[in-house]
Amino acid sequence: PLLQDAFGLTELEERIRNHYGLKQVIIVPGDSDASAHVKMELGRAGAAALRKAMKEANAVVAVAGGSTMAEVASHLTSAVPMKGVWFVPARGGLGESVELQANTIASTMAKKTGGQYRLLHVPDHLSEEAYQSLMLETGIVEIIQAIRAARIVVHGIGDAMVMAKRRKVDEATRQSLVSEGALAEAFGYYFDRQGRVVHKMPTIGLRIEDIEQMETVIGVAGGKSKGEAIDAVLRYGHEDVLVTDEAAALQIAEHM
Ligand code: G3H
Repeated sequence: PLLQDAFGLTELEERIRNHYGLKQVIIVPGDSDASAHVKMELGRAGAAALRKAMKEANAVVAVAGGSTMAEVASHLTSAVPMKGVWFVPARGGLGESVELQANTIASTMAKKTGGQYRLLHVPDHLSEEAYQSLMLETGIVEIIQAIRAARIVVHGIGDAMVMAKRRKVDEATRQSLVSEGALAEAFGYYFDRQGRVVHKMPTIGLRIEDIEQMETVIGVAGGKSKGEAIDAVLRYGHEDVLVTDEAAALQIAEHM
């Protein structure tokens, strides 16, 4: 561990919670950039936070994509089938590989908990015309309504440029992200250092205003390299629960 004792971690959780006005902060020891085991523990802690939120509501859970969310899904279990819970992807195609897509993660979560799921099939990188015609499809309208009715959203946080590269965002967009000062990415939105939204990926699903109305927003992200990005998303100011690791938390504390 980077900090010597559990008391140090509890104190750090409390400082971060107070500083950003969060309901809960959970820090697992170590650095998930450097250890697959720590990333697994991050997933386990994320799953516990999500399970707790689901207990309070027979709800629709909107799920984002990414490798951290995949870890959360693999640790999500339920002793009794959660038949009343619906898992839906937060947003449509963001250019991720199948394993990291929100659709895949939502269906895994449903299977692991005995809940229900609905998928949103949307191609990556929608044009304006394609977007307009998709929004006229009855099947799409229904799922979008279900997504916007979600009371819980669980999502990862990434470094803006890492995410843009992984999702094969075109060069022109990448350059504008740089010039707009994009530092962080979450649920297909890019944020600058102050937590202002500077760019939105062209797909459908949850809008930023839906996030702002949400009952419980759970962010799960760790690793020293994500410290600044996590700080930016926390500055945006609509997170309720942060699940992170020690290395990211120490970086976050430097930015507070
Ligand atoms: O939006 C952020 C990314 O989905 C995070 O992805 O968990 O694979 O780093 P990751």
